Amino acid sequence: MQPIGVFDSGYGGLTVLREITARLPQYDYLYLGDNARAPYGDRDFDTVYAYTLEAVRWLFDQGCHLVILACNTASAKALRSIQQRDLSGIDPQRRVLGVIRPTAEVIGNFTKTGHVGVLGTRGTVGSESYVLEIEKFFPGLRISQEACPGWVSIVEEHLQSEPESLEIVRFHLKQILEQDPKMDTILLACTHYPLLMPLIKQILPEEIQVLTQGPLVADSLVDYLKRHPEMERQCSTGGSIRFFTTGSATDFDAHASDFYGKSVKSVALKGGLSSGI
Ligand code: DGL
Repeated sequence: MQPIGVFDSGYGGLTVLREITARLPQYDYLYLGDNARAPYGDRDFDTVYAYTLEAVRWLFDQGCHLVILACNTASAKALRSIQQRDLSGIDPQRRVLGVIRPTAEVIGNFTKTGHVGVLGTRGTVGSESYVLEIEKFFPGLRISQEACPGWVSIVEEHLQSEPESLEIVRFHLKQILEQDPKMDTILLACTHYPLLMPLIKQILPEEIQVLTQGPLVADSLVDYLKRHPEMERQCSTGGSIRFFTTGSATDFDAHASDFYGKSVKSVALKGGLSSGI
């Protein structure tokens, strides 16, 4: 079996996997959440890179030829080094893709005013990856960014209904809106944030559209596999989806359906990413 690997620091990547499997149900998938070490958003570059490389190697060991980093922080801090430095030594035929480029390629099609807001972790925002990537495809688009420390923890710790969570979300939305009154589109540039949508919608004015990445990344993968038949042939087509976590399987299964939309039965990697299945 040669599944497509999908990786995130925790639950967030499930919001991407959900869209990918809806469009491409024929392939086998293997999801890995590094819940034991999430969140990644405030970790330094070297740590995010080391953890992500470990995850990619583990997914390769399980037979994945194609791995999607369904995590903006990992895409911002680790993807380029893995693609340019590590892949040739591990196996030049395998591929690792991220979520930033597929989003940057299309984001300009959604805004009418040309003024866009990007919400992400400190790691993603500090890397300036979105500003740099969007500039390549839509020069002249005005991008405002806001780091939202705490949002991933609200999601990972299931605190969405606590009154303080609404206030934390309100604070960062106010901050980003104040940066640019012409903003008409806000991108949730963290795969965990779609789970905060009910809070975000309560606060944001209706005329501002909120974009989530799952559908954008899924469309981009459909296109990628059409353009790369040599990689498409490496993806097995049994229609299976398996879930692994470095944290507790009981916790993962209890909460994953909020992200994935269906119940999930995961396996805990008790020995961490150095262990096999
Ligand atoms: N889902 C990750 C992202 O898209 C969350 C990062 C974190 O673990 O802080 O950035």
